[in-house]
Amino acid sequence: MPFTLQQLRLFESVARNNSFTQAAKEMELSQPAVSSQIKRLEKELGLPVFEQVGKKIYLTHAGHMLYKASQDILARVLRLRENIDELKGSAQGPLQIGVITTSKYFMPHLLGEFLKRYPDIKPTLKFNNRAEVMLRLLNNEDDFVVLGQLPDNPNLESYRFLENILVAVVPADHPMTKRKNIPLKEFIEEQFLIREPGSGTRMVFEHEVERQQLTLDPYMELGSSEAVKQSVMAGLGVSVLSLHSIRLEVKTGALAIVDVQGLPLRQHWYAVHLKGKHLSLAARSFLDFILGIDQGFLENGLRSAVSD
Ligand code: PGA
Repeated sequence: MPFTLQQLRLFESVARNNSFTQAAKEMELSQPAVSSQIKRLEKELGLPVFEQVGKKIYLTHAGHMLYKASQDILARVLRLRENIDELKGSAQGPLQIGVITTSKYFMPHLLGEFLKRYPDIKPTLKFNNRAEVMLRLLNNEDDFVVLGQLPDNPNLESYRFLENILVAVVPADHPMTKRKNIPLKEFIEEQFLIREPGSGTRMVFEHEVERQQLTLDPYMELGSSEAVKQSVMAGLGVSVLSLHSIRLEVKTGALAIVDVQGLPLRQHWYAVHLKGKHLSLAARSFLDFILGIDQGFLENGLRSAVSD
């Protein structure tokens, strides 16, 4: 064999990223190390695989052939490894999930439970805002991503799992805690704390406000569900938050859920990846695990705090 599997992996990464720098980052190597391996590969093949024009690199004819072959070979090697893992009866290796920050209130719990069964999986949860998660999804950077509102894109495969229940929250001593069936108009006329543009929670709530033919005039905008929660607890205003994010605060009486017309808004969380993506055994096992998880695992009786 004129080249090693490692050289093939490096070459595939440079060709796919169209960049030595990106490939070095992805492979966690220095750029000179990547360049020298590619040079060695070219020497062993007896033909150049890249040509440089100005600052850009292009695949040569031989490079194109090698790129196609390397994708087939590496995919085959990956499958082989998974088949061996399957024979051994356990998924292992890396698992990388891109998750929206609001899911930090439950994704680590799901992962923790999952890892009890699959201790040889090496997990990474990449927490980001919605825009960044979407970018990672479209660039195929993670095994799959988790987000709240499904993007309108036919090239995506999505799987619905836990409910994401958006509730009206107020400081624990707020007079609305003593009332039922509060008109939404009255609720949003309180000092309403709103999430940043692009937030799924904000999108859904604005939609409900519109549906009730009302106009939202927020008091303050905040960049995360955690910031909104802390601000409501600090008495700065009222808001709408995912039930997952306030479990502990409602339990300890630091925050209260109130009965507002049109709320709670029942949404779901979704695991999403590009259509046709081959999931590793580790990723498939985690996906199967979260799809099978019962809502009660997280909510600890909190649903009773939400009127149906
Ligand atoms: P977000 O999360 O409000 O932080 O965007 C929920 C979602 O994705 O719908």
